[in-house]
Amino acid sequence: MYQKCLSCAESIKNIIGNFKPEIAVVLGSGLGGFADKIDAKFAVDYADIPGFPVSTVKGHSGRFIFGFYGNIPIAIAQGRVHIYEGYTPTESTMPIRVLKLLGAETVILTNAAGGISNQLNPGDMMLICDHISLFTDSPLIGANIDEFGTRFPDMSEVYDKKLQRIALSVAEKCGISLKKGVYVQIKGPQYETPAEIGVLGILGADAVGMSTVIEAIAAVHAGMRVCGISAITNMAAGKTKSPLSHKDVIESSKKTENDFCRLIDGIIKNI
Ligand code: HPA
Repeated sequence: MYQKCLSCAESIKNIIGNFKPEIAVVLGSGLGGFADKIDAKFAVDYADIPGFPVSTVKGHSGRFIFGFYGNIPIAIAQGRVHIYEGYTPTESTMPIRVLKLLGAETVILTNAAGGISNQLNPGDMMLICDHISLFTDSPLIGANIDEFGTRFPDMSEVYDKKLQRIALSVAEKCGISLKKGVYVQIKGPQYETPAEIGVLGILGADAVGMSTVIEAIAAVHAGMRVCGISAITNMAAGKTKSPLSHKDVIESSKKTENDFCRLIDGIIKNI
């Protein structure tokens, strides 16, 4: 896996030369519009990187965009692959490890999520303060990659406290409602049943989705600082009468895009 990640990083370096992103942003479903805000220098389709996992879901484009945000060199991963597409957690987190190899020390992970907590409403943004990974395999299973990190990494502070403070203060200044919560990743692709949401709520989850946790684990293993933001696109199953659909999730996350972009803007500028 380490050789695979190195070879993907080398293929990208052949295109971007010595451009070194400091911050990486992974954009979740329906949130890809932030990529238009950067002064893009290079775009690299995942499909053009030999050995790189390619997303198969409609509405999840798959490419890296490298460029400047103000004068900060950043990388955007527009679209990601998921476990439900048939990729292992280790394969699904290759983008994070490749971004680390390209130089990124900080990663902002974003996603669309269903609200479990009664404090959350569709259209809200949630700052991920902790996560529950018990329903997915770890991306670190298998021989440890010592070049990235230690065999038994500490997970007591996955989401960097300083980045959390920055996110909360940006939200307050911009009048954006940003609530704090715990995110749980489930494998999908089916949405949860009301009974499953009941269980997840009892376990302490505020929001649920099909990504992010394994990426945060791979990033912390590799010594990256992590910030996580969920766009709450719907109330989780059983919380309202309406059935869940991917189309509604994408449409709803598009509605939060303006606030979402302002929040990411503020976080990057204040890091
Ligand atoms: N469940 C799981 N994943 C999701 C949801 C949900 O309710 N909404 C957006 N992604």
